[in-house]
Amino acid sequence: MKITAAITAVAGYVPEYVLSNSELEKLVPTTSEWIESRTGIKERRILKGEGLGTSDMCVEAINLLLKKRGIAATEIDMIIVGTVTPDFVFPSTSNVICDKVGATNAWGYDLSAACSGFVFGLVTGSQFIETGKYKKVIVVGADKMSAILDYTDRSTCIIFGDGAGAVLLEPNTEGYGVVDSILGVDGSGRKYLHQKAGGSVKPPTHETVDAREHFVYQDGQPVFKRAVVGMADVSAEIMKKNDLKSEDISWLVPHQANKRIIDVTAERMGLPSEKVMLNIQRYGNTTAGTIPLCLWDYESQLKKGDNLIISTFGAGFTWGAVYVKWAY
Ligand code: UT7
Repeated sequence: MKITAAITAVAGYVPEYVLSNSELEKLVPTTSEWIESRTGIKERRILKGEGLGTSDMCVEAINLLLKKRGIAATEIDMIIVGTVTPDFVFPSTSNVICDKVGATNAWGYDLSAACSGFVFGLVTGSQFIETGKYKKVIVVGADKMSAILDYTDRSTCIIFGDGAGAVLLEPNTEGYGVVDSILGVDGSGRKYLHQKAGGSVKPPTHETVDAREHFVYQDGQPVFKRAVVGMADVSAEIMKKNDLKSEDISWLVPHQANKRIIDVTAERMGLPSEKVMLNIQRYGNTTAGTIPLCLWDYESQLKKGDNLIISTFGAGFTWGAVYVKWAY
C-alpha cells in the first residue's frame, strides 16, 4: 500500500508586538492608505527582545504542535526548517530547535528558499515519510524578517513581518496528505531580491555595514511581475496535471506577499474569495512563515478530504504548488 505524508497537526506563533501602518508612517515617508491599497497589509508582528531569534518562534510553534497532537518531543524523527533568517550561519536553526524542544532522537536541517521555504520543506519532508523509514517529521516555515529589514527603506520595511508556522507529517495509507507537487527555481532572478552582503561572496566588513548591505534589497516591480505570472501559472498547472476543476478545490493556500498577487492567482484558478486563505492584513509577509500560519488560522474551517492547493513564489526566484488532501 502506497504511503503518503499526511499533515496531522498544525500550529503557529506570532510575536506580541504589533507594528501598525500608522507607526510606519512615523518611520518612513508612506501612508497607511498606500500600504493597504498596494499590498493589503494593515499590520505585522515584530519579535522584540535581546537574544531572541527565529528558533524561539519555532520553539513556540512546535511546543504547541506537540501538545495538540499529544506526543513527546522525543518521538520526532526530523525537523526541517525553511528560513532565510537562521539564528546563525551555522549551526542550523534546526539543530538549535532540536536542543531547545528536547527532540533528542531527531535530526534535521535548514532549507533556504526564501518565501518558498515552507513549500520546499513540505515536499522534501513528505519524501522521508513516503520511504516508510520516518514516522514523524516536522516542517517549519519561519522568519524574523525584522532582523534584516532597513527601517529607512519604505519599499521593503512595510511589507515584511515576523512569524513561524509548523506542521507534523505522518504516514497515511488512505491517500491523505501530499498528493502531488511542482517546484521550480530561476537563479537569474536573484538580482531583484536578495541580501547583498554577509555571505561568502561579500563577507561582513565595516564598509558593508555602512552601506546598509545586510538588509533586504528588493526591486519590487520586476518581482511583482514575475510573482503574479509565476504563482498563477504553477497553480493552474497543478490543477491541470491532477485533473482538478475549480469546484474540486476547497482552499487555495497562497504565499502572502501581496494581496494583488493572491487575487490574480485565485482568479486564474476560478476560485471565489471565500476559498482563499488570507492573513496578510494581520501579519504582512512573514516569508517562509505565511503558508503554515494560514493553515493554522484556518484549521477550524478545514474538513477531512478537502482538496488544498498550496502555492508560492519568492526570492531566488523560487516557486511551487502542492496538492494536499486534508487528513482531519
Ligand atoms: O514575497 C517575496 C516576493 N516579493 C513579492 O512578491 C513582492 C512583489 N512586489 C510588490 O509587492 C510591489 O512591487 C511593492 C508592494 C513592493 C511595491 O508596489 P508597487 O505598486 O510595485 O510600487 P512601485 O515600486 O512601482 O512604486 C510606485 C510608487 C513609486 O513612486 P513614483 O516613482 O511613482 O513617484 C514609489 O517610490 O510608489 C512609491 N512607493 C511608496 N509610496 C508610499 C514605494 N513604496 C512606497 C511606500 N509608500 N511604502
